[in-house]
Amino acid sequence: MGGGLAVGPCRPKELPQLRKLLNEVFITERNTEGDLFNFAPLLYNDANVENLRVVRDGRTIVGHAGICVRPIRWRGQVFQAGLIGGVCARKDLRGTGIGTLAMEDVAQRMTELGLDFGVLWTGSQGFYQRLGWRTAGGLCMMRILEAAEGGASGFEVMPLNESPFRPEDCHRLHEAAGRNEVIRTAQETRVQMGIPTRSAWIGLSGGHLAGYAVRAGETLQEIEGDAGVCAALIVRAASEGVRRCVFPLNDPRVAAIEGALPVCVERRSMGMLLIVNRASLTAKIAPETCATAADLGIGPLSSAEVLMARIFGQPEREPSEEPLPLDIHISYLDHV
Ligand SMILES: CC(C)(COP(=O)(O)OP(=O)(O)OC[C@H]1O[C@@H](n2cnc3c(N)ncnc32)[C@H](O)[C@@H]1OP(=O)(O)O)[C@@H](O)C(=O)NCCC(=O)NCCS
Repeated sequence: MGGGLAVGPCRPKELPQLRKLLNEVFITERNTEGDLFNFAPLLYNDANVENLRVVRDGRTIVGHAGICVRPIRWRGQVFQAGLIGGVCARKDLRGTGIGTLAMEDVAQRMTELGLDFGVLWTGSQGFYQRLGWRTAGGLCMMRILEAAEGGASGFEVMPLNESPFRPEDCHRLHEAAGRNEVIRTAQETRVQMGIPTRSAWIGLSGGHLAGYAVRAGETLQEIEGDAGVCAALIVRAASEGVRRCVFPLNDPRVAAIEGALPVCVERRSMGMLLIVNRASLTAKIAPETCATAADLGIGPLSSAEVLMARIFGQPEREPSEEPLPLDIHISYLDHV
């Protein structure tokens, strides 16, 4: 390997070849079932080929990294983030620079797209750390203890697909909450909730939709509604084998649920992040907080390390009136 490698966007006619590589790495190698294209439909679709970066050896795709561009609401601003997925090198060729090439190209493409930052989730931190990515941000992982299965509530909880409600109705609740999270369209919510490994419950109060929770495996990836309906949804989910629920860091609902149910809350980093466009990020933060970048400690002289810690922070941080670190959350529903 080496000299013959080239990197660039996937061509539409190469999508079947990319799909095969992804399924070899993420399905066959991991001894699981399914099709990665179906698990990440916003990433893997014809309209996003320019952001599906592939490494070729001649005509053969030997590596890949994909970018799913998502707008993220933060107060009155919208950040543009690149959610990175499907990073891989063909098994027999690992350790020869393919993964590095794919990720360098992703960084360049994110710059071309004018994104503010990139986010990824991985068990291979060392690989990304070499490329400038840092573990940062935070979320609350609520572990549900078995005793939570018994509780009662004034809410009626049922599977979304057995109810007269639709994902679009859940979408409206999410929109109304206006959290500092990914901004989705109703259609995107429907697509994300319809991924084959996911299912949803809704919580009704007097026949009205009061909340919903989306499950993948043992985790509730997104939960909406006030603390009361969330507790009812968690109790129902626990009775069907769900063991964890993800909340934004410092979400006020968490303390109320902790008081009502046997759960145990852990703060974790949000993922690995890379600042792509420091000037654009700073230009959104400074006016929004009515402070100068220098006052906020994110001036042009700050090192990338300091900037990352100051802007995204670490999971330990408590709620405060300080404008930084950013209180943004990327729901697991939006993970690619
Ligand atoms: C992770 C992966 C994409 C790396 O691709 P690759 O082509 O093997 O990586 P490179 O050859 O560019 O590696 C460059 C360096 O990163 C190191 N590296 C590779 N994988 C690593 C890992 N998981 N953790 C820490 N370092 C790693 C290599 O040792 C190498 O270091 P060196 O240059 O000092 O020798 C590849 O191992 C892979 O496809 N893994 C399976 C799929 C996967 O887990 N993807 C990540 C999902 S988030």
